[in-house]
Amino acid sequence: LKQSEISDLLLEWYDRHARSLPWRVSPDARRAGIRPDPYRVWLSEIMLQQTTVAAVKAYFERFTSLWPDVTALADAEDDMVLGEWAGLGYYARARNLLKCARVIRDDHGGRFPPSRPELQALPGIGPYTSAAIAAIAFDRAETVVDGNVERVVSRLFRIETPLPAAKPELTARAETLTPGSRPGDYAQAMMDLGATVCTPRSPACAICPIASFCAARAAGDQPRFPLKAPR
Ligand code: ADE
Repeated sequence: LKQSEISDLLLEWYDRHARSLPWRVSPDARRAGIRPDPYRVWLSEIMLQQTTVAAVKAYFERFTSLWPDVTALADAEDDMVLGEWAGLGYYARARNLLKCARVIRDDHGGRFPPSRPELQALPGIGPYTSAAIAAIAFDRAETVVDGNVERVVSRLFRIETPLPAAKPELTARAETLTPGSRPGDYAQAMMDLGATVCTPRSPACAICPIASFCAARAAGDQPRFPLKAPR
């Protein structure tokens, strides 16, 4: 009841305010039933680990123009790919990227598998990336939890447990909100909300589509969440 109200509001907001990003499909195309390309979703999600959206855009454009599909990337010279990766940091990611592309080419006929367990068996793909690819590219009802989502959910439910102990609870809450239809758009709506509205220091609650459901907003202590254990 309340869950579907929240996800409906998020999807409505996403339809109007989604950031236009090179790995996304335009709202018109989405309405026409066009799905994002799993290769592009995978590549963007790997690049976005530990690198900002602003920094990733140009790299993503360069990679996809050099290597338009996973087989092209699999066939590339290692040095060429590592050279293009320079600046993104964490070379292990680039090495795993190539390993993964070659497994997809050699063992999966050049196509990404759609399920989380199969995706997670691939080099460099963990729980986060498998959920992102399954939901965004394959329309599977999987829940994607990154730092943005943790912030949104911890405020919405005013979760008093500090991170990282709160992770299982935050994941469970995010799961109960995940709609059966458009799980990928829901995931990206949560990410965009966290990045542009439900920001760490001064969240823009006046323009938040789910402010009326937010427990932290009601209590007036939004910036306190998520709590973090002293390190
Ligand atoms: N950060 C990681 N994945 C993202 C995505 N698909 N959209 C926006 N920000 C992201």
